[in-house]
Amino acid sequence: MRRRNLLILAGSGVTAAGLAACSGGSGSGGGTGGSAGSEVEVFTWWAQGSEKAGLDALVAQFEEDYPDFTFVNGSVAGGAGSAAKDMLQSRLQAGDPPDTFQAHAGEELADYIASAQIEDVSGLYDEYGLNDAFPQDLLELLTVDDMIYSVPSNIHRSNMVWTNNQLLEDAGIDPSAIPADVDAFTADVETAAASGVTGLSIGMAWTQVNLLEAILMADLGSEAYNGLWTGDTDWNGADVTTAIEHFETLMSFTNSDRDGLDWTDATQMQIDGTAAYNVMGDWAVASFQQADMVANEDFGFYPLSGGEAIFGFLADSFTLPVGAPNPDGTKAWLDTISSEAGQLGFSLAKGSIPARTDVDTVEFPTYQQTAIESYANDTICPSLAHGAATPVRWLNEITDATSQFTTGANAAAGYQEQLASIAESNLSA
Ligand code: GAL
Repeated sequence: MRRRNLLILAGSGVTAAGLAACSGGSGSGGGTGGSAGSEVEVFTWWAQGSEKAGLDALVAQFEEDYPDFTFVNGSVAGGAGSAAKDMLQSRLQAGDPPDTFQAHAGEELADYIASAQIEDVSGLYDEYGLNDAFPQDLLELLTVDDMIYSVPSNIHRSNMVWTNNQLLEDAGIDPSAIPADVDAFTADVETAAASGVTGLSIGMAWTQVNLLEAILMADLGSEAYNGLWTGDTDWNGADVTTAIEHFETLMSFTNSDRDGLDWTDATQMQIDGTAAYNVMGDWAVASFQQADMVANEDFGFYPLSGGEAIFGFLADSFTLPVGAPNPDGTKAWLDTISSEAGQLGFSLAKGSIPARTDVDTVEFPTYQQTAIESYANDTICPSLAHGAATPVRWLNEITDATSQFTTGANAAAGYQEQLASIAESNLSA
């Protein structure tokens, strides 16, 4: 319906920017009152490599849908928003918001909502027909006090192991034999490391938190993992101790230059044939594809599991900041990224799956077919490292504690106590 409207508009020569100009906008900096600017600044951390390819796919669709708006790339490099989020916060506090910014569906939005930095966009859900297009559980995750503050572009999976199959074979490991639990996985990583390559490649602190989260999901199972974020699971419990021990052992098989590397570098080690394993979200698959590596031949993948089938969930989503200079441009961007064509093009390039349920995914590659199946059938757990499980502050505190632990400033026992007290203070905040 919406798309048909757009086509009629295009055919009638009335442009979205023209409509914006007619809607009573007062020029620049007019908040949501409707400014007529044509530039739309989109703030993301998709600055390079396969992530940039995903953004480029969205931009191409945006230019087709809204030729009278001009996309302005406000990206800040650094995986998982490791540099972007601080920069964004400074801009928001200085009253200099972009027209839209990338965030994660779920708890990450809580701080922006509490600080009144983003607008309720539930009206757009009605206007664009999104209440029918997105799955009910995703809508529930997005809804806060009957309002919705962002529009998802896709769904990613966080708890994946990636393998360089040649290196596994060289080490005598059968790439098709999926380890049954974290102990078995750790044994394989150790075997690979003993063959003279890096057992498990990893990067800076947030990638280490990504590994920790995958281990927690596998070792605790969905119920206890979810309870970590509600207070129902004791962070001082024996199962968390086991997970931290697994984390410590696995970290001992990683590259020593890790703190200077991003996820792209850690994945590149696998592409270059210097690292056997990596644990990372499924944006990694786009890098393997860009390097012409073939799924289940050159590289392999499976969720890190303790037996239960879990989908580590996160969704990129875009916002309408309070005081956005060009809110009509923002709404146009939100239209494109939520449309069938936008979601299809983006996920094909990015390694994710569409958040919409009505996108034809037959042409999706091997890995994404497994993600679609898992998202439909497995237990969904919110990602810690990617904003679905906690507000930004809680994640930042876990990341700092993790960094202290992996750089040797904290012993395992102290780390667990620290994680427990961080949970306590955030749950009582
Ligand atoms: C996540 C984001 C993904 C991907 C990843 C690595 O937080 O949701 O789309 O960009 O970071 O940067």
